[in-house]
Amino acid sequence: MIETNKTERYANIIPMAELNTKAKRLNPFPIYDQLRQSTPVRYDENRSCWDIFRYEDVHRILKDPATFSSRRGMDIKRRETILTMDPPRHNQMRGVVNKAFTPKVINDLAPHITSITNELLNTVEGHGEMDIVSDLAVPLPVIVIAELLGVPPEDRQLFKDWSDILVKGPDENTEEAFNQVVAEKEQASEELSAYFARIVDQRRTEPKDDLISQLLSAEIEGQKLNDEEVIAFSVLLLAAGNETTTNLITNTIRRLTEDQALQQQLKGNPDLIPGFIEEVLRFYPPIQAIGRVATRDVEIGGMMIKTGDQVISWVASANRDETKFKNPESFVVDRKPNPHLAFGFGIHFCLGAPLARLEGKIALRTILERLNEIQYLTGSELSYIQSPFVYGVKQYPITFQPN
Ligand code: HEM
Repeated sequence: MIETNKTERYANIIPMAELNTKAKRLNPFPIYDQLRQSTPVRYDENRSCWDIFRYEDVHRILKDPATFSSRRGMDIKRRETILTMDPPRHNQMRGVVNKAFTPKVINDLAPHITSITNELLNTVEGHGEMDIVSDLAVPLPVIVIAELLGVPPEDRQLFKDWSDILVKGPDENTEEAFNQVVAEKEQASEELSAYFARIVDQRRTEPKDDLISQLLSAEIEGQKLNDEEVIAFSVLLLAAGNETTTNLITNTIRRLTEDQALQQQLKGNPDLIPGFIEEVLRFYPPIQAIGRVATRDVEIGGMMIKTGDQVISWVASANRDETKFKNPESFVVDRKPNPHLAFGFGIHFCLGAPLARLEGKIALRTILERLNEIQYLTGSELSYIQSPFVYGVKQYPITFQPN
């Protein structure tokens, strides 16, 4: 394993100094534009990492796992998962889990995801008002992943609480707040692992038709996955899949309320929905940046990155790079092509992308079918999620007229 030259923790936890106000955290994109022009590849002493802002450079880094490793010097006791593995182990594990996430498996979930979405909307439709985050965008992915894995419905709230903690950042930019978050993450990760250990135990003796049972029967070169590996993968799905999809759904509805003409256009033309979701992913990517560690000295954009240095690739900036996207500041509902990097690129390309896209499309289609004149509840205040890499808001209240 490559040791990082500097501690990883600050890069992962502390936001860059340029994003020092609430307004900038809610709309960081102009800052990324400035940095992409002024210092497209720069070392940040404060966070002990390189920041990469141009599409071409981000793409190059994600495409080259031999030079830019996903293995990290971890200061939080996390188990190893595909997210933090390099080849050849990564290919083997990814091969196993790919089988559980085939397009067919995911597409077969569509009717069920639609009925969960309808049920969630049934409870709020009569009020003429709802919070997109807590009433739909949070429960939908949690329910879907919990069901996929095979955990009982009564444990969903527990899941949500754990997965929130796993992606949390500190409330303030201080050492104390940082340590507090690390301790909370350690605890949540332990609790979640203990929880999954019990389910894994049960499924070993009594397999069911669920993902955990499937993983327990999978083999790599004649070898079964051990309990640890199955538990680590289950924890990863929660950490990687829930909040990201929540933010995709919320950012989608946010965009809908920001442009009423677009809302009408989509209502009359649901064929535009898949393209709209892709453009939301480009425009408001739920994950803003992806971390790697250099395995050798390497030059990027005229700067010399040293072995062991941390490299943060800003996909949110790459997605608005004018050399790759025409009029990147415009939201173009049917943008083609749209090679955004919201799901990453290369061997670590998001495993859950088909599921996230499906949930986003179904949530949007159902909302457009059932609700009219969707508007942001004026006067309510937006607050952003405290994490340097996650882009989303904590609440998004809307008003509407039901059909
Ligand atoms: C990997 C984003 C939803 C599971 C990734 C990566 C990104 C990403 C950027 C690449 C990380 C890297 O290169 O280091 C997103 C976004 C989502 C989303 C924006 C929602 C809109 C999901 C869902 C699941 C999931 C729903 C699972 C149910 C994973 C896994 C990986 C991953 C397992 C690791 C893949 C590997 O390392 O080979 N995701 N994700 N994600 N994602 Fe997602």
